Amino acid sequence: MKRVSWQTRFGFYLAAIGSACGLGNLWRFPFVAGENGGGAFVLLYLLFAFIIGLPILIAELMIGRKFRKSVFAATIELSKHSSYPLHWVGRVAVVFTLIILAYYAVISGWVLHFLTQFIASGFSQRASPSPLQHLIQNGWLQVGLASVHLLVAVVVVVKGVQDGLEKWIGYMMPLFAVLLVILVLNSLSLDSSAPALRFLLYPNFSQLTYSSMLNAIGHVFFTLSVGFGTMVTFGSYLSDKNHIPSAGVRVAAVDSFISILAGLLIFPIVLAGTALRLSDPYLLFEALPRFLLQMPGGIAFAITFFLCLYIAALGASIGLLEVIVSNMIDRQKMDRKIAAWLAGVSALVLAVIPALSSTVFENIRIGGRGVLETLDGVLINWVLPLVALGLCLSFTYGMSEKDKEDLFVDPEKIESVSLYPYWKFAIRWLVPGAITVAFALEITGLILG
Ligand code: TRP
Repeated sequence: MKRVSWQTRFGFYLAAIGSACGLGNLWRFPFVAGENGGGAFVLLYLLFAFIIGLPILIAELMIGRKFRKSVFAATIELSKHSSYPLHWVGRVAVVFTLIILAYYAVISGWVLHFLTQFIASGFSQRASPSPLQHLIQNGWLQVGLASVHLLVAVVVVVKGVQDGLEKWIGYMMPLFAVLLVILVLNSLSLDSSAPALRFLLYPNFSQLTYSSMLNAIGHVFFTLSVGFGTMVTFGSYLSDKNHIPSAGVRVAAVDSFISILAGLLIFPIVLAGTALRLSDPYLLFEALPRFLLQMPGGIAFAITFFLCLYIAALGASIGLLEVIVSNMIDRQKMDRKIAAWLAGVSALVLAVIPALSSTVFENIRIGGRGVLETLDGVLINWVLPLVALGLCLSFTYGMSEKDKEDLFVDPEKIESVSLYPYWKFAIRWLVPGAITVAFALEITGLILG
């Protein structure tokens, strides 16, 4: 079967950036940075994005382009060429991609809730219970919203790569970027912007803990959509004309830029308002609606912004679903439609657990954290780096040196020639080394309490 390619180079960027930029940037980055004390963590995050995340991003795209397969089938190919028993990596990655999709659908459902509340104009900060409390107190509402979200994603993915992915995200992304910049300018005009900038940009290294390194690495993988082989699928649709490392740099740069904008937007608002816990997963949803509504043209602004945020979440979800579906098509020779529905329904079943975290499972606390936060921590800080490590080793030992060089070096791009040894060093030593050190520090912290 001939594999489809992106119709345009632009199509690839839309899908890859659409997958990378999402709730990870707007929703997760601010509260993880808050939890880890601000500036020093932000610095760590930016550093790791480029020295750890980017090399893997490039490697994943290469695996996809080389084998023209998704991660499951591609890691089996890789394992044929190496003596390490790493054929399981792809399978594990796909299973966890489904779990991430389920978790992601719940948070996307929260966005949908605020969007519909704004549209219905029933949104008022004084309403009792507030829209956020309503959501927290209503687990089955969260299940309902997640199912609507998954339904939309399934419908888009059933239509196929070009029709589904390329069109959707393209129109909204530039609009979103413009809105974000306008909002950041507004938020920086608040009196609290000075302490917010200090918090976000001044690196106070004494704030770092034993967990910070693993938190930074986990978040880098999450926000760049790497580690579970998502970018392998996108790379498999990439045409031969694209220069992979350049594509990787662009995706990583845009993604980091959006995260920094999100930080600049959220922290002045948070520090201006009532005392919010900076590490609270509800941070974005506590802070932003209040701020949006008190701007001139508030409700229209709020609707547009949450619509863009929703489309960003949808772009990432479509990417996740597409990965699962293309793996099922590659391995099980399944029909696209059946695969998409099957994956969507499975994700919905799994989504019930995080969705009911604040109601039915309210009393389940693990180390002081609820079900949703525990799932987030385990999935993103533990499983994602471990699978990424497996993928990195599969790549290092399974792909021939000649293939690596051919895919990286473009003689017309002089910087690709000079950067090649650094990238090879990063992927062989730096990435596995950093992940190992991060785990060692985390475990040390756990032992020392
Ligand atoms: N990167 C997305 C975000 O920041 C989330 C995401 C999409 C993801 N695909 C992924 C995370 C694959 C891990 C693995 O919102």
